Amino acid sequence: MKKIAIAFSILLSNLIVAQVPIYKDKNAPVEKRIGDLLKKMTIEEKILQLNQYTFGVNNNPNNIGPEVKKLPAGIGSLIYFSADPILRNRIQKKAMDSTRLGIPILFGFDVIHGFRTVYPISIAQACSWNPELVQLNCSAAAKESVMSGVDWTFSPMIDVARDPRWGRVSEGYGEDPYVNAVFGVASVKGYQGKKLSDPFSIAACLKHFVGYGRSEGGRDYRFSDVSAQSLWETYLPPYQACIEAGAVTVMSGFNDISGVPATANHYVLTDILKKQWNFNGFVVSDWNAVKQLVWQGVAKDEKEAGLKAFMAGVEMDMKDNVYLENFPSLIAENKIPMAAIDDAVSRVLRVKFNLGLFDNPYTEIVAKESRYLQPKSVKLAKNLAEESMVLLKNKSNILPLNSTVKKIALIGPMAKDKENIIGSWSFNGRSIDAESLFEGIQKEFKNAIIGYALGCDFDGTIETGFAEALDKANESDVIVLCLGEKKTWSGENASRSTIALPQIQEKLLIELKKTGKPIVLVLSNGRPLELVRIEPLVDAIIEIWQPGVAGGTPLAGIISGRINPSGKLAITFPLTTGQIPTYYSMRQSARPFDRLGDYQDISTEPMYWFGHGLSYTKFEYGKVKLSATKIHKDQKIDVEVTVTNTGKLDGKETVLWYVSDPVATISRPIKELKYFEKREISLGEKSVFKFTIDPQLHLSYSDSDGERILESGDYYILVGNQKVKFELVE
Ligand code: NOJ
Repeated sequence: MKKIAIAFSILLSNLIVAQVPIYKDKNAPVEKRIGDLLKKMTIEEKILQLNQYTFGVNNNPNNIGPEVKKLPAGIGSLIYFSADPILRNRIQKKAMDSTRLGIPILFGFDVIHGFRTVYPISIAQACSWNPELVQLNCSAAAKESVMSGVDWTFSPMIDVARDPRWGRVSEGYGEDPYVNAVFGVASVKGYQGKKLSDPFSIAACLKHFVGYGRSEGGRDYRFSDVSAQSLWETYLPPYQACIEAGAVTVMSGFNDISGVPATANHYVLTDILKKQWNFNGFVVSDWNAVKQLVWQGVAKDEKEAGLKAFMAGVEMDMKDNVYLENFPSLIAENKIPMAAIDDAVSRVLRVKFNLGLFDNPYTEIVAKESRYLQPKSVKLAKNLAEESMVLLKNKSNILPLNSTVKKIALIGPMAKDKENIIGSWSFNGRSIDAESLFEGIQKEFKNAIIGYALGCDFDGTIETGFAEALDKANESDVIVLCLGEKKTWSGENASRSTIALPQIQEKLLIELKKTGKPIVLVLSNGRPLELVRIEPLVDAIIEIWQPGVAGGTPLAGIISGRINPSGKLAITFPLTTGQIPTYYSMRQSARPFDRLGDYQDISTEPMYWFGHGLSYTKFEYGKVKLSATKIHKDQKIDVEVTVTNTGKLDGKETVLWYVSDPVATISRPIKELKYFEKREISLGEKSVFKFTIDPQLHLSYSDSDGERILESGDYYILVGNQKVKFELVE
């Protein structure tokens, strides 16, 4: 009897297995599942997978409803302009139940610096020099995204940017390729977690591949002159690092690379990304970018645009339906081979399988109160804000403010602001969630009288608020003046022709200076600013960037001295707009003596270099020690420097290790950052910072074909203000 029962149950389970197609079997290997599904798909179903739709323009359910109904059930992806997991599940159910094969939709969204718990903008994050903290913030953002129905974020942006007029400097990690690489990797790890299929992981998307940061004149959507040398040397390295870290999607840029728009650039999308780097995820175009190939003048119509983009290596068409409308005929005319379609569809399916969408297509509904702004996430946002604020100036150690300070005049359009402080790209961020600078300072300085005045608006010409600001200033011991940019002044399509603050803000400062009171200037902005007229008038400057929902307390802590500032700039502040571009890794001048080639009207030195940032304590660097000063190409050098906190407070110091290659076949940057490390050093303590120079990694450079060249000769290691020579021999 027992034997019969066993035989029967084996037969039954075989029958069940036979009925479940391989692609639905969660225990089957992903590649097998993809192969099985592909075999079952029609051409129409395949083409739909290569399309990304969008719906609605905001979170208003009245806008979304009718649009949702218009979506075909079997689409590849949807840009999810909603935070409602129930709506997502409804849309997903349609894809799962009313299509032949039940392929889940991939829900994407721009989660750039937090979902609802908005943390500092990316340029600020880089100024923290704390990638571990950024990783934690990204993983908190991933969790909120998942609970809102989002599987995929269009982040990180790792476009090296050296023109602060370009609004998108706020979204990246500054001017240095290595810094972009490190923070890009940290955010990929934060979003994607240990495994993509973990319940709170989302897919990352590296953007905008590649060279968008080279935007000419800081203008958006315009031509970018990316030479083959700068492509390999400056723009590609962050992408390569993030691909190696496992990023599963990439977004192509709007820009050109040596004249060929990124959306149609076979060299970067296929030859480099897929063939050389073995990327097996997919590339999504940027918004309408396939269609834009017509406007860019490289395709005569949308059909040709679709063909060019796809054959170059763009698998998914964001928003413009060019693939959907033109692929049936392009395939019928044998212009697009089926093998290419299959490869593209497999790439999209791979991401969906790896995310676990086939096995768990729906979002688990978590009570609203437990979804967002959980104390742990807000604390992370606060910690990151603390570490990303940069003390730019501190004349006569006016900061931290003496604890006996009785009256503070808190002035300026940013002081009580809750809207702009959150920063650009914060769709789900809400001003009611944000802590203003005023609130933070009020909490911190409980025993002081805080006299607030708006002074003026962010721009315009109305000076009627000056009088009240002057009254408050006159009554106070110190002025804390909070100026800056609106959040809409940076981000996408938000370039400015000047990086100066609007005149009205500078004028307010000039008037306040007349009171003779000390001035602490607090700046909140999305790009480096022109401070040439402002800097001499103030005693201290704190750059807080756009800190997100939790900036008030960190700023107040820095002003009071409860927090010792530890941020350093990840992007240079030029002296004036006319000095752009100015970045630390420029090439040597051909006449580097007698000030030849300098500007006649202003200094050629910027206001603050990359790496600048003050602390309330003093860190003294001991002599740099090298384990060898002459090595062969296959050997390494261990370098170390002891840093001692000789000041009056505990603090955090970031040691930046640069290499310089004074003579090479191709002219090299004056110096290049190769490694950095941030550590807490208690008062009176020493810490030994180490870096190992690996010639292949740190001394070689890419030529214009991407070949790594390692040349023998003299090199320098630079740390603090020391520069030590060593030699590389064959
Ligand atoms: C256009 C932007 O360039 C890109 O960064 C963004 O991810 C997409 N729009 C989707 O919103």
